[in-house]
Amino acid sequence: MFITFEGLDFCGKSTQVQLLEKYLLDNGKNVKIIREPGGTPISEKIRDILLDKKNSEMSVETELILFSASRSQLVKQSILPALKENVFVISDRFHDSSIAYQAFGRKISLEFVEELQRFVIGKAVPDLTFFLDIPIEEVLKRKSKVKHVELDRIELSKMDFYERVRKGYFYIAEKEKRFRIISGQLSIPEIHEKIIREVKKLEK
Ligand code: TYD
Repeated sequence: MFITFEGLDFCGKSTQVQLLEKYLLDNGKNVKIIREPGGTPISEKIRDILLDKKNSEMSVETELILFSASRSQLVKQSILPALKENVFVISDRFHDSSIAYQAFGRKISLEFVEELQRFVIGKAVPDLTFFLDIPIEEVLKRKSKVKHVELDRIELSKMDFYERVRKGYFYIAEKEKRFRIISGQLSIPEIHEKIIREVKKLEK
C-alpha cells in the first residue's frame, strides 16, 4: 500500500507520518518512510538546491522541474521497488504538492503540471492521501511560534500564496477518490485515530 500525506506547512503531517509508521510496525508490517523533496542521494541533493535561501533567483519553472526530477528519481529508485516487495510506503508529500504549490501557488499551467506529474509518477499512484487541513491563520500562528527555527525559502513566501495552495488541495480533493480531508486542528490522537480507521478500511 502507498499512502501520502499532504497539507500546508505546519499542518502537522510529519507527526502523523511517525505515528502511522509506529502503528504499522507494531502490527508487523514492513514500512518505508519517504520525505519529499528528497529520499534518495540524488533527490537529497536536489532538495538542498530547492530549499537553500541563497537561491532566491530561482524561477518557478526551475522549481517545478527540480521537484519533479527529485520525485522521478524517488519513484524509480525507491518507491516502486518497495511496493513490489509489498512494503508499506508512506510519503510526507508527493505529486499533489506540486499541483497545489506549483500550479495553484506559483500559478504555473495546471494542465501542464498535472501532465508532468503523471509522467513522473507513472504507476506509483497513491492508494490513500491524507490532506491535513488548517486555515491560513493557523499557519501564521504556528509559524510565529517556531520563529526561532529558521524558515526555509518556500516557507518565507507570502500568505496569499498559502491561500491559493489550500484551494489547490480542495481542487484535488474533488477530483480524487483517494483523498481524505482531515482537520489539522483536531488533537494529535484524534487525527491519528481517523487515519487508522481509513487505513483499516482499505486493507479489508
Ligand atoms: P518540506 O521540507 O517537506 O516542509 P514541510 O515540513 O512543511 O512539509 O517541504 C518544503 C517546502 O517545499 C514546503 O513549503 C512545500 C514545498 N513543496 C513544493 O512547493 N512542491 C513540492 O512538490 C513539494 C514536495 C514541496
